[in-house]
Parts: sequence; C-alpha cells; structure tokens
Amino acid sequence: MIRAAIPEDTTSLLEIANATTVFKPNEIVALREVLEDYHKGLSGHRTYVHEDEGRLLGFVYFAPAAMTDQTWYIFWIFVDKEFQAQGIGGNLLRLAEREAKGAGGRLMLIETSGLSKYARTREFYQRHGYTLDAIVHDYYEDGDDMHIFRKRLVDGGESNATQGRSR
Ligand SMILES: CC(C)(COP(=O)(O)OP(=O)(O)OC[C@H]1O[C@@H](n2cnc3c(N)ncnc32)[C@H](O)[C@@H]1OP(=O)(O)O)[C@@H](O)C(=O)NCCC(=O)NCCS
Repeated sequence: MIRAAIPEDTTSLLEIANATTVFKPNEIVALREVLEDYHKGLSGHRTYVHEDEGRLLGFVYFAPAAMTDQTWYIFWIFVDKEFQAQGIGGNLLRLAEREAKGAGGRLMLIETSGLSKYARTREFYQRHGYTLDAIVHDYYEDGDDMHIFRKRLVDGGESNATQGRSR
C-alpha cells in the first residue's frame, strides 16, 4: 500500500533512513525536523510511504521549489536496506513525478552526494531519466560534492545558456 506519511510513521522512517548507512547523523536529525514541519502543514509538500503488512519499506518527500515556476524537488527518497533493488524506490520516484506533473510541475530536481557510496543512488536517478546538471564542489564538506540531477516533466524549454542570454 502506498499512502501519505502520518506522524506515527516518524520513528520507523528515522530507523529505516539510519539503517541505509548512507545518511550522516546530522541528516537523520534534519529528517526528523523536516517530518515535524511537514506534519504541521507545509503548503504543496507531499510525502508517500510504501507499507507492506504494517511495515514501512520506503519513503519519498517532494515539494515545489520556492520562487520558481513549477520546479519541484525530491528532498528525500529511501528504501529499507533489506528491500532495496525490488522496485520500491522506482515506484515512489515515478509516483512523485506523476503527482508533480499533475500539479503543473515542469522540472524535477534531486540533489545527492558525489561520494562513491552514493554511486548506485546516482545510477538509480540516471536510469530514471535524470541527467547530471551541476556539481557544487565541496558542498557537504571538503571532498564531498553535491550533484544536482534534473529531469523535465513536460516537453519544451530552453535554458538561458542555450539561448545565449544571461541574468
Ligand atoms: C536509491 C534507492 C531509493 C533506490 O530504491 P530501490 O527500491 O533500491 O530501487 P529500485 O529497485 O527501484 O531500482 C533498482 C536500481 O536502483 C539502483 N540502486 C541504487 N541504490 C541501490 C541499492 N542500494 N541496492 C540496489 N540497487 C540500487 C540500481 O541501479 C538498481 O538497478 P539494478 O538492480 O539493475 O542494479 C534505495 O536503494 C535507497 O534507499 N538507497 C539508500 C538511500 C539513498 O541513497 N537515498 C537517496 C539519497 S539522495
């Protein structure tokens, strides 16, 4: 079953995220805060959990980016370590894309780390049609770059760089 996250899910979601071993302790703290804020009500923000027989197996959190025309962000996506590579993450990613597109979404962005332990995560995004659009070197910390992946949800569009314009 796929449904929106509820406050009672938070403990399990933090445990699942922690057990993936890819998130740093400060990111797990951030996730707790993000979920608290989400449950207080954040306009346009959406979450889904994948639940099977009462057990949470996956999570996605996405929202429109402030001060943009329908650019959306996937802020969090993770799957229980024991259940990875079974299609759960792909389903949650496609659901987020469909929902964002249905709400008028134009672009979807996802940020992740350039560290080798995120190699399969980056491969996952590329398999789903995302392209690496930017790298911010040393973003998370020295030696840990931010990779920004991007996918158009609708056809068309031409970047300023392509048009030879600048802001
Ligand atoms: C990235 C993630 C959400 C993908 O979800 P998933 O359910 O494992 O992925 P799917 O089953 O839909 O797709 C499998 C594909 O994803 C990629 N992949 C990414 N991480 C993987 C992992 N830890 N194990 C297996 N495959 C992984 C592979 O390309 C794989 O294809 P393959 O099986 O042919 O090798 C999930 O693996 C995960 O939670 N990883 C750790 C947390 C994380 O990195 N989150 C994103 C932070 S920015």
